[in-house]
Amino acid sequence: MYSPRQKLLWFAFSTRVMVLVLQAVTNFIIPDHVANVFVSPEDANLRRTWGDAAVDTLLGGLKRWDAQYFIHIAQYGYTYENCLAFFPFFPLVVRYVSYGLNSVVGSFLNIHSSILISATVINLIMFIKSADILHRLSLRILRSESKAYKSVVLYCVNPASIFFSAPYSETLFAFMSFYTMLKCTENETLRFANIDIVSGLPAGFSMITRSNGSVNLGFIFYTSFRNVIERTLPEIVYKYRTLKRRIILPFLFLPLVTSCVSLFSTVIIALIPFVLVQTYNYLKFCVPGQHNLPEFLSNTEYVLPGRGDSPWCNSSLPLSYQYIQNHYWDVGLFKYYRLKQIPNFLLASPILFLIMYHCMSYIKNNPKLCFTLGIRSNFGYTNKVPYRQKQYSKSFGANDPSFFVYIVHMIFLCIFCIMFVHIQVSTRLLASASPVLYWIGSYKMNVGPTPTSDQNTINEHFRRIGIGKRIPSHHLSIANLEGVDNMYSKWKTFIISRWMPDFQSRLIQYYFLGYFLIGTVLFSNFYPWT
Ligand SMILES: *[C@@H]1O[C@H](CO)[C@@H](O)[C@H](O)[C@H]1NC(C)=O
Repeated sequence: MYSPRQKLLWFAFSTRVMVLVLQAVTNFIIPDHVANVFVSPEDANLRRTWGDAAVDTLLGGLKRWDAQYFIHIAQYGYTYENCLAFFPFFPLVVRYVSYGLNSVVGSFLNIHSSILISATVINLIMFIKSADILHRLSLRILRSESKAYKSVVLYCVNPASIFFSAPYSETLFAFMSFYTMLKCTENETLRFANIDIVSGLPAGFSMITRSNGSVNLGFIFYTSFRNVIERTLPEIVYKYRTLKRRIILPFLFLPLVTSCVSLFSTVIIALIPFVLVQTYNYLKFCVPGQHNLPEFLSNTEYVLPGRGDSPWCNSSLPLSYQYIQNHYWDVGLFKYYRLKQIPNFLLASPILFLIMYHCMSYIKNNPKLCFTLGIRSNFGYTNKVPYRQKQYSKSFGANDPSFFVYIVHMIFLCIFCIMFVHIQVSTRLLASASPVLYWIGSYKMNVGPTPTSDQNTINEHFRRIGIGKRIPSHHLSIANLEGVDNMYSKWKTFIISRWMPDFQSRLIQYYFLGYFLIGTVLFSNFYPWT
C-alpha cells in the first residue's frame, strides 16, 4: 500500500511516461503538419549515427513549435534577436546537463540528440519534484490531505501536459513558482525577520525562466506585508502597553527595521539573476561587434548579435522583452482579437472560464475578507475565537484568507491573458504559474464510490493488514477517494479509473483528460496546439 505522497510521485512519473509514449507512437503514425514556423537550422557537418536516428524517432515529436527555440538556444546560444523572447534558465540548464551527457555517450550520439534527451529528462525530474512541492503547498493551504491529493492528481494530467514534457520552460517555471509560494507560507525562521531571505532564490530563478516570474515577487511583498500587520505590529503594540521603562521605547521598533532589511535583501537576491541576464542581452545585442557565427547560422533574415541598432537598446531601461514581443509576435492590447482566431479563443475558453468564474465567486462570497486583503488584524491579542474554516462548505475557498493572494495573482494573469497574449498560450501559462486551477478542480470534483471504497471494505482491509501496527491517518484519508485496489497501484488514480457521479465533475475530468490526450497528439505532429 502506498502513502498519498508515494502514490502522487508514482502518478507524476506514470503520466510523464504516458505522454512520452503517446507522443512517440502518434508522431510515428501521423504525418507531420507543415507549420512554417521557426525551425532551428541544422549543422550539415554534424555526424548522424543510427543512435541519433533512434532518438529522433522516439523524442522527435517533442521538438515542435517553441521547443525549436529552446533547443536552438541550448545548442547555439542566443544567435538571433527574436530568441530573446525565450528566457535563458531552462536552455542554460539543458545545455550544461547535455555537456555532461555528451561526455559519456558522445561516441554514438551527437550534441543535438544529447540536448533533446537532457531536456526530456530534466522536465521529467522537475515535474515529479514540482508535483511534490505542489503537494506540500496544497496541504498547507487547503489543510486537507484528500483535497491536496486531488489537486496534485489533477496537476499530473493538466490540460497543458505536453508542454510539461516537451522542451519548454513550463515545468521548471512551475517548480520555481510553487517553491516560491511554499517558502512564503513558511513561518519565519529568524526571530525578527519576516521572511526567509532564501525564498528570494526560487523567485529569482522563476524570473529568468519565464517573463511571468516577475509577478511572483508579489508573493514575497504580500507575505512580508501580512507578517508585519499580523504579527510584528501587534507585538509592538502589546509590548508598548506593558512597557515599564520609557528608555527602551526606540528598541520596540527594531523588528520593523529588521523586517524591512530582510524584505530588501530577499528582493535583491531575487533580482540578481534577472539583472545579469539583462546585462548579457544588452552586451550581446546592443554593443556593436563581430558575431562569430558559423556559416549555417548566419541567416540574414534575422537580427544577429553585435548589430547594436535595435530600437530597444536606446530606451532608458533597455529591456528587450516588450519590444521583442511586440515586434516579432505582434503582442499588444487586444491585438489578437481577429475572426480567424476564434478557434484559439475556444480552445482557451475552458481554463479562462473555470478560473475566472470561481475566483470571482470567491471575491463575491468573501467581500469582507477581500476588503482587508486577507489579513487578519489581531491587535492587542484579543481573545477572539481563533479563525476556523467553515465546515462542510463546498464553495471554493469559502471564508479562507489564505487563498486571497493566490486568487489575486490568478485574476491578474487571467486578465493579462485575455487582453494581451496570444490567447491559446493561456492554458499553459495559467497551468504552470499557479496552483489555483488544481485547487478549484479539487473542490469542485466529487468522486463516486467504487466497490472497494466504502468504509466497511476499507476498515476490514486495514484491520487485516494493520495487525500489530498503526495505520498512518493520511493513508486512511485518501482510501475513500481511491478505493483499496487503487491504493496498491502505481498509476491508477481516481481521475482515470473512476466514473464521476455528477455532471460538473465529469466535465472537469473530460476537460483535463481530453486536453491531455488531444494536446499531445496534435502537438507532436506540428498541428496547432501551442
Ligand atoms: C506573461 O507571459 C506572457 C506570455 O509569455 C507575456 O506576453 C506577458 O508579457 C507576461 N506578463 C508579465 C506581466 O510578465
